[in-house]
Amino acid sequence: MISERLRIASQFLKGYHYLADCGTDHALLPIYAIEKGYVKKAIASDNKNLPLMNAKDNINQKGLFLEVKTVLADGLSYLNLENEVDVVTILGMGGIVMKDILDKAYLYNVKRMVLQPNSHSELVRRFLEEHKWKIVDEVFIEDNKKYYQIIVCEKGSMILNDLDREFGPIILKKKPPLFIKRIESMIDHFNQALEQAKDSETKEKLNQRIAFLKGALA
Ligand SMILES: C[S@@+](CC[C@H](N)C(=O)[O-])C[C@H]1O[C@@H](n2cnc3c(N)ncnc32)[C@H](O)[C@@H]1O
Repeated sequence: MISERLRIASQFLKGYHYLADCGTDHALLPIYAIEKGYVKKAIASDNKNLPLMNAKDNINQKGLFLEVKTVLADGLSYLNLENEVDVVTILGMGGIVMKDILDKAYLYNVKRMVLQPNSHSELVRRFLEEHKWKIVDEVFIEDNKKYYQIIVCEKGSMILNDLDREFGPIILKKKPPLFIKRIESMIDHFNQALEQAKDSETKEKLNQRIAFLKGALA
């Protein structure tokens, strides 16, 4: 069964042709996207053998080996001028690794990327900003008691501030109730830490973080 996180991310693939799902693990996302007819073909890639074996098993079980190709590769190193991949997903990875993968990738033919960094989303958004990608949609979701940001981007330009980079320009604009709840609970957490804090340096850092988070609610 596909998770809510992957199901929501897959909605942004509709109408594209050839998907590359980097860090695919079980290949549930490309399988779902093909089954639903969102894309016609897919590459399910991972840099480790075991996840790729799981991916192959799942693809074969569904009889989708003609539509979903598995590739053992670091990041998106298989992308080049010739291939037809027009949409990329990188989901469920830390932002540092994700940024590194994007930095090394040949993305000239790619029209859209759907990204879901588990951490350091500000590094991913900074990469997008600096490499002429524009965020066209974003979702803030809770799945299995964890919060996730899903970023959808296409070629274009944008200018972000620090709040935008951490929380997402569109999430900040839409301010969904779940996001407000999350920021309020983070502010509560830092306020409690502030009550316990002894030294002035820690207090100063906590106050700065609280002020920053309040900015996300303004
Ligand atoms: C937590 S899983 C996420 C699986 C799936 N994308 C999802 O969101 O449910 C992360 C996967 O990324 C793979 N991975 C980590 N670094 C990678 C890299 N540099 N290149 C390709 N795959 C990588 C891991 O082997 C693992 O299978």
